[in-house]
Amino acid sequence: MEIVPLATEADVAALAADTIEALVRAHPEAVLGLATGSSPLPAYQELIRRHRAGTGPSYAGVRAFLLDEYVGLPAGHPQTYRETIFRELTDALGIARDRVASPDPAPDAIPTAGARYEDAIRAAGGVDLQVLGIGADGHLAFNEPGSSLVSTTRIKTLTARTREDNARFFDSVEEVPRHVLTQGLGTIQRARHLLLVAAGEGKAAAIAAAVEGPVSASCPASVLQLHPRVSVLLDEAAASRLERTAYYREVFDAKPDWQRP
Ligand code: GLP
Repeated sequence: MEIVPLATEADVAALAADTIEALVRAHPEAVLGLATGSSPLPAYQELIRRHRAGTGPSYAGVRAFLLDEYVGLPAGHPQTYRETIFRELTDALGIARDRVASPDPAPDAIPTAGARYEDAIRAAGGVDLQVLGIGADGHLAFNEPGSSLVSTTRIKTLTARTREDNARFFDSVEEVPRHVLTQGLGTIQRARHLLLVAAGEGKAAAIAAAVEGPVSASCPASVLQLHPRVSVLLDEAAASRLERTAYYREVFDAKPDWQRP
């Protein structure tokens, strides 16, 4: 794993944007895996800023797959992750909406939604770069603690803590759906490069458990340790509970230019 302790959330956003842009420049038809939530927003805003300034690559050939989606919200609801990613990233980058895929939460299709989504990812050639945040309890996408480390896309029930964490996007916690469709930890592991971004003290314990703790379903993000190409970009607060920070910094400073985005 490449652990990159940076100073600020803006530094995290800039390096994440560099990484995404480098992939799209090298592979204009890249398949991006996109996360919602607050963590990737600064990186998305940086990509949009550069795109508007004319310094970013064209995203017209890119395809995207979302990590997860709520079950039970009406189609087009502003808090569906599909609408959220259109609003926060893909429309502004010029990625056509029909090139953005997400798990299908239509009520009568839930039992087959996971298998259909896995097929769609496979048919697109797999995800080249998966953007990830991390939940305060160590969840990845909506794989709550206890999720199988080899799981595939399926319906899950949110913990009370995750519903409370996400209540800020709704009028009240009661409005946060109980169920979701989420890529599994096995699905995420098949992406070629995992790019996790985290900022703030609230993520420090989850990051320490994921990166330096045991691989365990009790901390779903610890599955990152089993992936051959992971980059974890952290601001100072999110890195504050790590034990080997000095070494991670040394490794990053010594990174050869040819490996940098
Ligand atoms: C959410 C999302 C995840 C996200 C995580 C952290 O519920 N399903 O994809 O990474 O929980 O969210 P945030 O980035 O808002 O802290």
